[in-house]
Amino acid sequence: MLASELDLGLSNMKKILVTGGAGFLGSHLCETLLAQGHDILCVDNFFTGSKENVAHLLKYPSFELMRFDITFPLYVEVDEIYNLACPASPIHYQFDPVQTTKTSVHGAINMLGLAKRVKAKILQASTSEVYGDPDVHPQPESYWGRVNPVGLRSCYDEGKRCAETLFFDYWRQHQLRIKVVRIFNTYGPRMHPNDGRVVSNIIVQALKGEDITVYGDGTQTRSFCYVDDLIEAMIRAMNTPDNFTGPINIGNPKEFTIMQLAKQVIAMTASKSNIVFRPLPSDDPKQRQPNIALAKDILNWTPSIELDEGLEKTINYFRTRTVAR
Ligand SMILES: NC(=O)c1ccc[n+]([C@@H]2O[C@H](COP(=O)([O-])OP(=O)(O)OC[C@H]3O[C@@H](n4cnc5c(N)ncnc54)[C@H](O)[C@@H]3O)[C@@H](O)[C@H]2O)c1
Repeated sequence: MLASELDLGLSNMKKILVTGGAGFLGSHLCETLLAQGHDILCVDNFFTGSKENVAHLLKYPSFELMRFDITFPLYVEVDEIYNLACPASPIHYQFDPVQTTKTSVHGAINMLGLAKRVKAKILQASTSEVYGDPDVHPQPESYWGRVNPVGLRSCYDEGKRCAETLFFDYWRQHQLRIKVVRIFNTYGPRMHPNDGRVVSNIIVQALKGEDITVYGDGTQTRSFCYVDDLIEAMIRAMNTPDNFTGPINIGNPKEFTIMQLAKQVIAMTASKSNIVFRPLPSDDPKQRQPNIALAKDILNWTPSIELDEGLEKTINYFRTRTVAR
């Protein structure tokens, strides 16, 4: 490489590891970081992610894909680590709950160990699930949560809580530069079509003209953040000053009932589907909404993509897939 090429601002280029990089959020994160000029190492065991999600990135010399399970130690040289590896939908994380806890806990230990060895900054993709079925609404970061430690969702919720503990202990004990972001419901293209998550579920059923399943009476609310907004917040969180650790909520505070969402998707897809009601799964939270005051203040960020716009992009993505298969 010529010296002049090295001068072209490449000194800002960082080597960035994204675990779970072939998943829904991870693939969008890799794409954005790559576009910013960084060198990306995407690590994934393809449990819920796929090569297809990052196939369009493989042609770039600064993108590298590695099949790897983060429950094992990894030895690479990087400047930053985004730790996203973990199945995120109940169907997938309950498929092998022991492996889910291992991914969160052993995975965190391995990635924190790596960050310590190479002095990398590390961000944990935590979740609103750490608040459990909350009795405080909306949830600020200071709320400690109401989590069942022995239920079907515990492998995920408690695994993520333990990962947060590990991050903060590595910060206190080894002065690691950490960032913990608590992600609320996010949707967009490349969500897994059959993982039971509410937005993809409803869209796919509407496009196929199948009955649309609403759990409970549909009055439970969720707040949905479009993926582009979320990735922007995540990168801003990574770039905060070293004395900021989080935890910090990122998500869209606008609330909708599941019934509203179903009706909107039916209208936007001109679907003939009927809505059918099924019992609520155990420990399903009735309400979940982020308090994003801290994100507004520290990240100077608020989500900007309205549900209509985000749904349209997501519906278009699933339309091509549903027709193609
Ligand atoms: N999407 C959301 O709404 C949401 C909400 C809260 C938190 N999160 C968190 O964000 C992260 C990404 O979520 P997502 O929605 O993209 O889910 P996803 O399932 O699409 O992505 C997770 C990725 O991790 C990979 N993976 C799983 N176990 C692994 C292991 N042991 N080693 C290596 N790779 C492994 C999967 O193959 C997949 O590609 C997860 O940690 C999740 O808990 C997501």
